[in-house]
Amino acid sequence: MFYVRRHFFCWCTVGITCLLLSFNFYWSKKFHLGVAWRNIESCSVKLPQDTITPLKGTKAYVIAPYYDNREKDIIRILGIVHHQEVEELYCYFCCTSDTVLYTVKAVINIHSDRFDFPYGLADIICSEPPSCTPTHVSVHWSPYEPHDSLTTFKILNRNPGRPTANFTVCFSAMFGNYNNVLQFIQTIEMYKILGAQNVMVYLNNCSRKMEKVLQYYTEEGTVEVIPWHIQRYLKVSDNWQYPNDGTEIGYYGQISALNDCIYRNMYSSKFVVLNDQDEIILPFKHRTWDTMMESLQRKNPKVGIFQFENHIFPQTVVSNGNFTNTSSWNRVPGSNLLQYIHREPDRLSYYNARKMILDPRAVIQTSVHSTLKQYKRSMYVPLHTALVYHCRDPLQHNLPRASLIKDRTIWRYNVSLIRNVNQALLKFKLIG
Ligand SMILES: *[C@@H]1O[C@H](CO)[C@@H](O)[C@H](O)[C@H]1NC(C)=O
Ligand SMILES: *[C@@H]1O[C@H](CO)[C@@H](O)[C@H](O)[C@H]1NC(C)=O
Ligand SMILES: *[C@@H]1O[C@H](CO)[C@@H](O)[C@H](O)[C@H]1NC(C)=O
Ligand SMILES: *[C@@H]1O[C@H](CO)[C@@H](O)[C@H](O)[C@H]1NC(C)=O
Ligand SMILES: *[C@@H]1O[C@H](CO)[C@@H](O)[C@H](O)[C@H]1NC(C)=O
Repeated sequence: MFYVRRHFFCWCTVGITCLLLSFNFYWSKKFHLGVAWRNIESCSVKLPQDTITPLKGTKAYVIAPYYDNREKDIIRILGIVHHQEVEELYCYFCCTSDTVLYTVKAVINIHSDRFDFPYGLADIICSEPPSCTPTHVSVHWSPYEPHDSLTTFKILNRNPGRPTANFTVCFSAMFGNYNNVLQFIQTIEMYKILGAQNVMVYLNNCSRKMEKVLQYYTEEGTVEVIPWHIQRYLKVSDNWQYPNDGTEIGYYGQISALNDCIYRNMYSSKFVVLNDQDEIILPFKHRTWDTMMESLQRKNPKVGIFQFENHIFPQTVVSNGNFTNTSSWNRVPGSNLLQYIHREPDRLSYYNARKMILDPRAVIQTSVHSTLKQYKRSMYVPLHTALVYHCRDPLQHNLPRASLIKDRTIWRYNVSLIRNVNQALLKFKLIG
């Protein structure tokens, strides 16, 4: 009797092992990935200390994981990786119900716009373990790390909800002791007049005065500051293209910030506006972005990405609009947008760069002037509809004033802009 029972027990063990093995095989097949799991004591949560987190023992950094079910259920981890030296990465998911740790091999897709820098943004994509909805994920180059040694990243976008904003503007890195306070305040107030509710600032560094302004707008609920100390981890370039100078990533990681901004706002904002802090998309035919986009979408229902022509308004050509109530602005550091109403003409054989207003749910990967992977079409918005008002140093030096095109679109907003800027300055106590 005893013998029989032992025999039975043995066969049972073999049977279960076979079952587990075949299940593992089925799983691997299903995901085309290796999946391993093991029981552990508990699911620990060790949150990252910064927006960018270095992974130990490999040349990769994690920004944030986003749940994405637009095609199938995946976790897309936005990360910055060395384009040659990161071969394998594994996702670790801890399932609290039975305290099991799953390890899945990730697919690493480096975005094609890396501009020859050694590091670029990557989508690190993992399938989720079935019958478990993990809240956090960890990443490591080997599948055998003890879980409690790993940083756990909260998986975002799990519960989409409804959009709370019509327009969210994304600024990629603010850097170099940024102190263009007046232009920044005018720009934020212009965005609000045009219809924006949120502005995301990926902040590398700025002046003390600018910090105060950012704090004010954060309390107001307009600005969200994302700390962006990328120079702690990588040699950053302020060029967009690799100058072959030993730097590691372009333009303070602009592309990484822009993609992160799209995913952060994927479900919270109807549209995302990708432009720099010295740029404003100004409509000609409409007064606000709401009415302009409503019209553009109605006429182009298959389009999700709208590209606007960039035009330079050189800060070397000053015009005085005789506006009242702006005298106190002289005491605020920075440029006064109301003084720049001349733009450079197009050049033959030069392409005007474009900036975008897009439906974030239509975008998989973006670059600066166009998207790289998307679900909907892109269109060039004609110049008679709107332009990107780009106030900066001239690109075409030494052009006589008469060769510039007078364009007073920004002046249409003078009354509300002056009023709102003055209100903001009073609140900042920048003027008395
Ligand atoms: C978004 O736009 C719609 C229609 O243009 C408007 O009714 C609504 O108030 C706007 N939402 C916010 C948060 O401003
Ligand atoms: C900001 O960055 C500049 C260089 O880009 C540096 O000279 C300056 O010290 C930094 N300021 C702070 C407060 O970190
Ligand atoms: C500004 O006002 C002065 C006198 O008040 C006038 O001579 C000048 O033409 C005005 N300039 C503009 C651009 O309107
Ligand atoms: C200037 O400011 C005063 C007081 O704040 C206001 O009464 C007046 O209407 C403003 N003028 C213009 C042209 O905005
Ligand atoms: C300022 O705005 C008002 C109202 O929108 C407009 O009538 C006026 O012409 C504008 N001023 C200038 C100098 O464009």
